[in-house]
Amino acid sequence: MSKELIRLTDCVMQFDDDIVLDHLNLYINDQEFLTLLGPSGCGKTTTLRIIGGFQKPTSGTIYFDGQEMNDVPPHMRKINTVFQRYALFPHLDVYENIAFGLRLKKTFSEEEIAKEVTEMLELVSLRGFESRKVNSLSGGQQQRVAIARALINRPQVLLLDEPLGALDLRLRKDMQNELKRIQQQLGITFIYVTHDQEEALAMSDTVVVMDQGRIQQIGTPEDIYNEPKNAFVADFIGESNILDGTMIEDYAVEFFGRRFKCVDKGFAPRESVDVVIRPEDIDIVDPSEGHLSGTVTSVTFKGVHYDIIVDFKGFKWLIQTTDFYPVDAIIGIRLNPEDIHIMKKSAYSGAFGDYSSYSAEYDEISDPEEPSEDDADEE
Ligand SMILES: Nc1ncnc2c1ncn2[C@@H]1O[C@H](COP(=O)(O)OP(=O)(O)OP(=O)(O)O)[C@@H](O)[C@H]1O
Ligand SMILES: [Mg+2]
Repeated sequence: MSKELIRLTDCVMQFDDDIVLDHLNLYINDQEFLTLLGPSGCGKTTTLRIIGGFQKPTSGTIYFDGQEMNDVPPHMRKINTVFQRYALFPHLDVYENIAFGLRLKKTFSEEEIAKEVTEMLELVSLRGFESRKVNSLSGGQQQRVAIARALINRPQVLLLDEPLGALDLRLRKDMQNELKRIQQQLGITFIYVTHDQEEALAMSDTVVVMDQGRIQQIGTPEDIYNEPKNAFVADFIGESNILDGTMIEDYAVEFFGRRFKCVDKGFAPRESVDVVIRPEDIDIVDPSEGHLSGTVTSVTFKGVHYDIIVDFKGFKWLIQTTDFYPVDAIIGIRLNPEDIHIMKKSAYSGAFGDYSSYSAEYDEISDPEEPSEDDADEE
């Protein structure tokens, strides 16, 4: 197993009266690909700046290899950064942009520099671009130069702040694969910032979900997606129907006045909970065979599947299906125990997970009905 490399203990960042980071506790293993994920303003860049040494926490400690780093300046940390704005030197060509870090050290011969630059060009697939001016390159190519320039210093840790933010979707996906390959090939620790949940899930060993200066959940992409800790995480990562429920006993939850089997336990008797059901986990069946039945109020073709909004007793759910159901169709659904996820109530309860407003976006193409009074079918 990899060993721990960086640790933040009780890090608080305060600007005037604003607490921007609220007692952050986090460790990062050597050679890990860790992503800070969260909405704009949640404190991702601030966390990265503290790790890089560009900012000192108001209180709390940062350790590197077990040594306190609070007072160590950025250039003395074995860290390099790729910023969202690549900050390449426009008057230098590709070769000189990449060579810059080595020239600065003044200990490398021209021959050694050439060897290193060539290796970096190879790594980011830019052989042949040596003498190109950087402002003649595409966004994706400039991004590669920025990465090569950071990596030539052989940092132990690379900090990347939304490095793919300026690229179109296709190029983004290509670069995601490239970055992952580079990280694995060189065995470098990557600390990556993004607000794009798909990107975080696709690339990371560990995802740290943040909101309002606090860590909401830390886990593998699978953990975060399958076992969200609260309504914020469930809503931010993927799509989620979130309902009020009551835990009756271990492995049994009640919502919509019906009892369902689930796989969760350890709640107090009759504890109020949030119930998460992912749109892709819902099986559509004949209304006579369903646990619940509802009326389709809108349909949107998404390529691989349809997004349908279905009204269950006035609650609108999002369901994803590869079969087509027209507006006004009455459908039944079945829920398997493993597709019902139970979460503790939190400050975020009630704020997310209902698709009533979402369906408004579809009003033009659908013919929304009055909420159906259909009752759930009995088993
Ligand atoms: N130097 C500063 N002075 C005052 N407030 C600051 C300062 N730096 C950051 N903040 C505030 O701290 C909060 C977190 O900022 P941060 O840049 O870390 O967010 P972020 O998660 O990176 O957001 P984005 O996705 O928009 O880049 C914001 O509300 C920001 O306005
Ligand atoms: Mg930021």
